[in-house]
Amino acid sequence: MSKGRFITFEGGEGTGKSTQVELLAAALRDTDIDVISTREPGGAPGAEEIRALLVNGATNRWTPMSEALLNYAARAEHLDKTVYPALEKGQWVISDRFADSTMAYQGFGHGVERQAIDKLASAVLGDFKPDLTIIFDLDLEIGLERAGARGQGEDRFERMGHGFHERLRQGFLQIASQEPERCVVIDASASIEQVAAQIRSIVSERLSVPLS
Ligand code: TMP
Repeated sequence: MSKGRFITFEGGEGTGKSTQVELLAAALRDTDIDVISTREPGGAPGAEEIRALLVNGATNRWTPMSEALLNYAARAEHLDKTVYPALEKGQWVISDRFADSTMAYQGFGHGVERQAIDKLASAVLGDFKPDLTIIFDLDLEIGLERAGARGQGEDRFERMGHGFHERLRQGFLQIASQEPERCVVIDASASIEQVAAQIRSIVSERLSVPLS
């Protein structure tokens, strides 16, 4: 279906994804690629409204299954209103989080059955998947400290215990090892410029685009 490319950044809290989304978008624009950056949950008006329900309030506000459903409702909006139209126009799309976050957070983190999440994925996504997924791996303490220092609210998930964050970190690593043709894990503890250079090199190699 699509002419553009779809790149997703995934990982735990405070791994620096959002900064790197913008740096990669700028690097791609420098080579005249038309690119948009977006995020999940969010990236379309209705999806941003759902985001507010998910990222604020008491940690036990939603059941794990409700969380998975809300994320997939937001994703359906995001795909239909933002991602698919952009790809059809030939734009590249970089999304700060996508479907792997639901498997890692609600599946590995909260224990929603993997098969149930696979069914949601198949109902909402069909065969659609990212061309490339970069998984930011970082020690929990560093990530949660960085995320806390941002202090912008939206911290409902940050407040979920250490065990939850460790499970989702391992979940992302497992997802990456199961789909090596789509996923690359990077060490997010390096400096912003070092991580950006690593990402440019992965994108060049995997998607055959000349980025220096
Ligand atoms: P952000 O902090 O990266 O913007 O993401 C918002 C939070 O939503 C983050 O703590 C991860 C969480 N999340 C899920 O739990 N499941 C999902 O499917 C997505 C996309 C995000």
